[in-house]
Amino acid sequence: ISGANKRRHSSDSEPEPEGESSCSEEEKKEEKQEIEKPSASNVSSAGKPEEGTKKPMVSQQAAPAVSSKPSCKPAVFVPVDRSPEIQEARLKLPILAEEQVIMEAINENPIVVICGETGSGKTTQVPQFLYEAGYTSSNGIIGITEPRRVAAVSMSQRVAKEMNLSHRVVSYQIRYEGNVTDETQIKFMTDGVLLKEVQKDFLLLKYKVVIIDEAHERSMYTDILIGLLSRIVPLREKKGLPLKLIIMSATLRVEDFTENTRLFAVTPPVLQVDARQFPVTVHFNKKTPLDDYSGECFRKVCKIHRMLPSGGILVFLTGQAEVHSLCRRLRKAFPFQKNSTAGDDDDRKESVEEMRKFKKSRRRKKAATLPQINLDNYAVVPVDEGDEDRDAETDDDIAGSDVDLDLGDGDSEEEEKSDSSLPLYVLPLYSLLAPEKQAKVFRPPPPGTRLCVVATNVAETSLTIPGIKYVVDCGKVKKRFYDKITGVSSFRVTWISQASANQRAGRAGRTEPGHCYRLYSSAVFMDFEKFSAPEITKRPVEDLILQMKALNIEKVINFPFPTPPPAEALAAAEELLIALGALKEPPMTGRLKEQQAAKLSCPISPLGRVMATFPVAPRYAKMLALSRQHDCLPYTITIVSAMTVRELFEEFDRPAASEEETVKLKGKKGRLVQMQRIWAGQGSLQKLGDLMVMLGAVGACEYSGCTPKFCEENGLRYKAMLEIRRLRGQLTTAVNSVCTDAGLYVDPKMKPPTEAQATYLRQIVLAGLGDHLARRVQAEELLDDKWKNAYKNALLDDPVFIHPSSVLFKQLPEFVVYQEIVETTKLYMKGVSAVEPEWIPVLLPPYCHFGKPLENPPPSYCPETGRIRCHRPSVFYRVSWQLPAVEVD
Ligand code: CDP
Ligand code: MG
Repeated sequence: ISGANKRRHSSDSEPEPEGESSCSEEEKKEEKQEIEKPSASNVSSAGKPEEGTKKPMVSQQAAPAVSSKPSCKPAVFVPVDRSPEIQEARLKLPILAEEQVIMEAINENPIVVICGETGSGKTTQVPQFLYEAGYTSSNGIIGITEPRRVAAVSMSQRVAKEMNLSHRVVSYQIRYEGNVTDETQIKFMTDGVLLKEVQKDFLLLKYKVVIIDEAHERSMYTDILIGLLSRIVPLREKKGLPLKLIIMSATLRVEDFTENTRLFAVTPPVLQVDARQFPVTVHFNKKTPLDDYSGECFRKVCKIHRMLPSGGILVFLTGQAEVHSLCRRLRKAFPFQKNSTAGDDDDRKESVEEMRKFKKSRRRKKAATLPQINLDNYAVVPVDEGDEDRDAETDDDIAGSDVDLDLGDGDSEEEEKSDSSLPLYVLPLYSLLAPEKQAKVFRPPPPGTRLCVVATNVAETSLTIPGIKYVVDCGKVKKRFYDKITGVSSFRVTWISQASANQRAGRAGRTEPGHCYRLYSSAVFMDFEKFSAPEITKRPVEDLILQMKALNIEKVINFPFPTPPPAEALAAAEELLIALGALKEPPMTGRLKEQQAAKLSCPISPLGRVMATFPVAPRYAKMLALSRQHDCLPYTITIVSAMTVRELFEEFDRPAASEEETVKLKGKKGRLVQMQRIWAGQGSLQKLGDLMVMLGAVGACEYSGCTPKFCEENGLRYKAMLEIRRLRGQLTTAVNSVCTDAGLYVDPKMKPPTEAQATYLRQIVLAGLGDHLARRVQAEELLDDKWKNAYKNALLDDPVFIHPSSVLFKQLPEFVVYQEIVETTKLYMKGVSAVEPEWIPVLLPPYCHFGKPLENPPPSYCPETGRIRCHRPSVFYRVSWQLPAVEVD
């Protein structure tokens, strides 16, 4: 133990990377103080108290707010050479009429909010106004953040085209991709990209203007950026290098930004752009909603196409797979030769491409084979960025009737065959679609065809597709959910909010009166939430807290969140990050209250800095951070990818339609079980349990060339295998950009790990999933039968069991870590790996209680009672564990 502690200490005393920054220590301190001040009233550049200056909403006129320094207004006018067609199209946009009002407000105020209906021209035009007004003519560029990758790419292309400028000047940057150059003057990026830039340059000195677009989506990174910028803007002002902040929203619901006195000391002016919206007639389904909403979408589109006058159709579905499947069905029903091959094989082609890129570099030599991983062996280097697709939330008023109208018999189940002579021009649209393919939706459809775009939520507010007259809304959206028990997040399909439904309907009324077909009844609509809650209030925040700590924001609780996350979520996140070693533990002195405060403002550790650079959840990031030893990285990357994808194996337990099928399914299941046993390997490999099965399955699949045939024969899900391959590529890029000397590449055909490597991998997994540790209930602890073969873990009072599908189901190791708990007939652990007891005190000292109790036991937060407990929720601490469990020196 003392050895382990010593190692931890030495890591703590390593020089912190912030020392490398070009900023002086004093400046850093000042920045930090500004951020951690509890209220923005203290940092108002005007020095005015916030009360009294608070205004409701200013429409179309700028409030004479903070500063009207002449220096704020650039003197030059930069001409733009637009084509006559572009100019003509621009002049039709409602925002053009407001150019002068908008620019005056921006010149006069450091912070301006612009609200305008989707399609009014905010995203494409405001950057052009600023460019023409000379905001980029001296040092400094215009930055625009989007919550979605698809918008960042497509908008940069559109603006470049409108301005007749090259992509070297109007550029974009998304997670691993971009075309930014030294000449870039207008830069579109995801909000995650800008957040990572704040880590490198807190004052964002390279920007003259920052535009936060789609603020109504309330994506977590957007919210954090607005909080950060509320402090950065006054700091820049103080330095005499003013920064303009423009917040753009599709709805008028902006009080969380404008009337939040923690955020802005002076209420920023709100400019409203009135967009022309034609009436949209809303038709609800009579029947209660169907599970097969995709099939219902198909039938509805067929009917619209056959029976209703010309006009584009926009279908809202929830995910990429559904989008492709509906596109395929529609193309089959209404053949149109030019696009019949488009799209379907894209993903496969792209992931193969990605893999090829990593084949260049060399492999590192194998290291010594010590049986213990070194906790301090991680690279201390800065920064990469992360972003992900978002879900939208919006508010809009739709003209139209709220009556049950239908296109006829909504229940017909028969497969449609086209009797329409007009071909249907079917296009998919989702976030990860290649940019060239996305761009197709903006072009007019080939003459004599009807446009039909099948989209995910991206079409709700991020992109305006021209010519849409009919909207088919399945009423669902795919959202990330947080599992309170297991701490694992997953995507689930749920109902949208009323605001989203109205926003979707509004897409039909851009150019003429339209129709929206909702595949749910009006009663169901009435049960929808009015608005979806901001992402930050629904999500686990440990990754966010880690990112903020990496920005040296220690007192997270004082951060000016537009809507703060629940206090217990913050406390739980901090607790987990301390346990993972990402934060430095506070000294446990003083009174309980002080201890509590200290606990909620821990600084980041060197390990935490490394973890913050990986685009995965902190538990997995810790595994990656520890894996740069004994050549474990490729394996950890694969395990983390496989754990993220989940559902690697086909499900054969489903009810069969015939006896013949039952036999077939049984045979397939037998084959899969047999293969899993082979993939689990022998000896030390076998102890890695289900994670070794994942590794083995991926390895075997790649070795066979990752063909659909191999997957089909061996019970693997082909889609999942492709996804794992893509993620392995992405994570390898991330690791390479962190450890620039690693020269790592993923050989899709990796060799199995050696016995020693498997042992290290088990330790690495334990170090990351420490709070998912469970211990088998010993014979003498058996209270009753329900505890037979049961495990106990610190998060739950009920017994948990190894899932029957686990390769460790029969072996029942004394200690295991699990990936997640699923509840069916019992609470089952999935993704189980065996752990040696003697590793626990070395790798997870925060979870251990050593012999005699500590004199000052560290406090911990109890989410149930909201109180602070004087001990950690330790696996060894709980009475029910009947310890002493393991004796180690
Ligand atoms: O941001 P906001 O929703 O206010 O509007 P916008 O995205 O700036 O779009 C303004 C107009 O440009 C819309 O009518 C779009 O259809 C059009 N547009 C386009 O034709 N091609 C693009 N690639 C992007 C936008
Ligand atoms: Mg926009």
